[in-house]
Amino acid sequence: MQYKFALIGYPITHSLSPWIHEHFLQATNLEGSYTIYEISPEKDFANEMEKLKKEAFHGFNVTVPYKEKMIPYLDEIDSQAKKIGAVNTVLQKDGRWIGYNTDGIGYVRALFHKFQELRETKNIKILLLGAGGAAKGILHALLYEGFQQITIANRSLERAEILAKAKEGIEVISLDEAARRLDRFSLIIQTTSVGMKPKEEDVIISLENIKENTIVSDIVYQPIETRFLQEAKERGARIHYGHSMLLYQAQYAFEIWTEKEPDAQSLDEKLKQTLEG
Ligand code: ATR
Repeated sequence: MQYKFALIGYPITHSLSPWIHEHFLQATNLEGSYTIYEISPEKDFANEMEKLKKEAFHGFNVTVPYKEKMIPYLDEIDSQAKKIGAVNTVLQKDGRWIGYNTDGIGYVRALFHKFQELRETKNIKILLLGAGGAAKGILHALLYEGFQQITIANRSLERAEILAKAKEGIEVISLDEAARRLDRFSLIIQTTSVGMKPKEEDVIISLENIKENTIVSDIVYQPIETRFLQEAKERGARIHYGHSMLLYQAQYAFEIWTEKEPDAQSLDEKLKQTLEG
């Protein structure tokens, strides 16, 4: 059997997904292809979806700007994706499209891989920086895994409060307050694009008050070691790079499509080197 996978989005010509999934196909001894299927925003989306149906991909990934726009075209949606309100993976089963969101779960898998103790220790205090789409996926995955003590800090408090409605007991604070009271947290997750190239000098909050051994994670992976992570390291924190989220969200998507779990860890260093150019 020849698997047919694709990525839809715009612009996606530089996406690393084909590279990752082709490695996964090889690693699992499966045959197939992963195609870039770019849909320009000027096109009529409904019409594009009809064309996509005819392509009969076994599965495809969905990225910006279509993660929400895709939902009305699904025949079924997984409960996590429904809560998040965005889909990044579609499985085609008997001609029906089933939507999933593997971003948040992929992020948590990557984190668990590096910090095994988090699988068992659920009563730690977590600070989530940001309240956008990425934060939403990660928040729902953390809740799904049973973490309870979550604080959201965001530039716009209103947006953080909307996100905090996901579950009772989620605290909302300003970025300034987060910086002042940083020593309360054992895990800090930076979910915004602050610090991304070409603005790699930017840091979302000062890490002056961090306590030693805190886990600091940044979803930005260009550069691999953001200024935020550099500062965290200098202050004795344990750091977690953003590129691993890419790998593990892809691993989970691949599992949904093929029911096989490819090894993601062996690709980690290669991906890091590719990104570092
Ligand atoms: P994504 O889907 O990548 O998460 P998004 O939904 O546009 O993107 O969310 C962007 C997040 O980055 C938000 O939390 C945003 O804060 P606001 O809600 O206050 O806009 C945050 N963000 C972006 N630029 C920022 C900056 N310069 N300083 C602080 N936060 C920033």
